[in-house]
This record gives sequence, C-alpha cells and structure tokens, in this order.
Amino acid sequence: MSDSNTIAGWVLGAGIVALGSGILFGQIFHAKEPEQEGYAIAAAEGGGGGEEEAIPLATLLASADAAKGETAFAKCTACHTIAAGGADGVGPNIHAIMGKAKAAGGFAYSSALKDMGGNWTWENMDAWLASPKRYAPGNKMSFPGISDAQERANLLAYMNSQGSSLPLPAAPAADAAAEGEAAGDAATEGQPSLDAEQVAADQAIDAQAEATE
Ligand code: HEC
Repeated sequence: MSDSNTIAGWVLGAGIVALGSGILFGQIFHAKEPEQEGYAIAAAEGGGGGEEEAIPLATLLASADAAKGETAFAKCTACHTIAAGGADGVGPNIHAIMGKAKAAGGFAYSSALKDMGGNWTWENMDAWLASPKRYAPGNKMSFPGISDAQERANLLAYMNSQGSSLPLPAAPAADAAAEGEAAGDAATEGQPSLDAEQVAADQAIDAQAEATE
C-alpha cells in the first residue's frame, strides 16, 4: 500500500514539474510576443488611449479591395503616375513602389524622405499615407493624408497590384482584435501545444489525486 502511494507521489511530482515547465515556457513565449506582434499590440494600446486604431493593418489588408483602392488613387493622380514608365510630375512615378527602396527614383526628392532609408513596407507606407508630415517631417509631398484606415488598406492593395507583389502580412486570429489587451495572446503557433501539455499535466494530477484518495 505505502509503495503504491510512493509511486503515486512520484507521478504526481513529475506532473507538477511538467506543469511548472509548461508555465515557464508559456512565460518565455509571452516575453517574445511584443516583437512578433508589435503592430497588434501597439494598435491595442492605441485603442485604449486617445487614438483609435483598433483593427490591425494585416486584418484590414486581408479584406482590402484593390478596385476601391484604384478609386481612392484619384486623390494622388494630380501629382503621381503609377503605370510602368509613367512620367514624374509634381511627385515621382510610383510604379512598383511597394517593397522598393524609399526615394530611389530619379526624382528630386527632399532630403527628409531620402535620409529615411529602408524600403517601403505595408506598415510604413500605411503610416506615410495616414500623414506624410508626421511620417517624414519636412518632406515635400503636400498631401494631408488619409484618415480612414480601410481606405488606406484598399489603396495599398491597389498600389501593390501595380508592378509590386509584396506578400501580405500574416493576419492575426479573428478574435485577437476583439480581446483588446489580450490581442497578443492569441494566434501564436506554439501556444496550442503548450496549452495541450498543461491540460495533460493537469489531467495526470487529477487522475493521481483520485487514485490516492
Ligand atoms: C500635391 C502633390 C501630391 C499628392 C496629391 C500626392 N503626392 Fe505623393 N509625393 C509627392 C511628392 C512631391 C513626393 C516626394 C516627397 C519628397 O521628396 O519629400 C511624393 C512622394 C510619394 C511617395 C514616395 C515615393 C518614393 O519614390 O519613395 C509615395 C509612395 C507617394 N508619394 C504616394 C502618394 C499617394 C498614394 C498619394 C495619394 C493618396 C499621394 N502620394 C499624393 C506629391 C504628392
């Protein structure tokens, strides 16, 4: 009798160790999330504060309508062409601009834009079109920006269809945005198996608790 209790004790102990390491792994995983889902977390924090940007860009892009984006591009045509080989006007030709280095054409760019460096991504193009002045203070694109996030996403989809083919960012899980501050907790690849491990450890402990009663 006391032998089986000792064995039960060891199994219970192993279960607790497994549970503990599951929690530890969970915490390590969480600590990494802010980098991986920086945008979603920034958006969730923004939602809690003054500026409302509750829906992550990746989600908006997943349902973006390039045809509507083409209509929105009417706001740009006074200064830009987007066809291959189109002429520079007040602003540069922006054919195949998504993924391209910033200010890399033959246009007489401002140093404000030239000095930024890096390539145009979904995120920074979204920020640029939301407010060119805030994104690159001192630049010479005289355009106030587009405040509607879905309109910007549509526009980005259209621009991407004009000579670029930047892959879409991975969309977060549908319920992530709705969960507000917990947005970063969902939609992670490794999480389900860790949860499963914890459930298994819990079940082992429950089973042993029953066996020792
Ligand atoms: C009043 C004219 C004007 C309008 C309207 C305008 N732009 Fe611009 N755009 C410019 C100028 C000028 C620059 C160069 C800015 C600089 O060098 O500081 C520029 C730069 C850009 C760039 C960077 C190009 C590169 O080579 O890196 C993009 C992208 C862009 N505009 C997109 C748009 C889109 C999309 C719209 C419409 C939503 C728009 N612009 C509306 C004048 C305009």
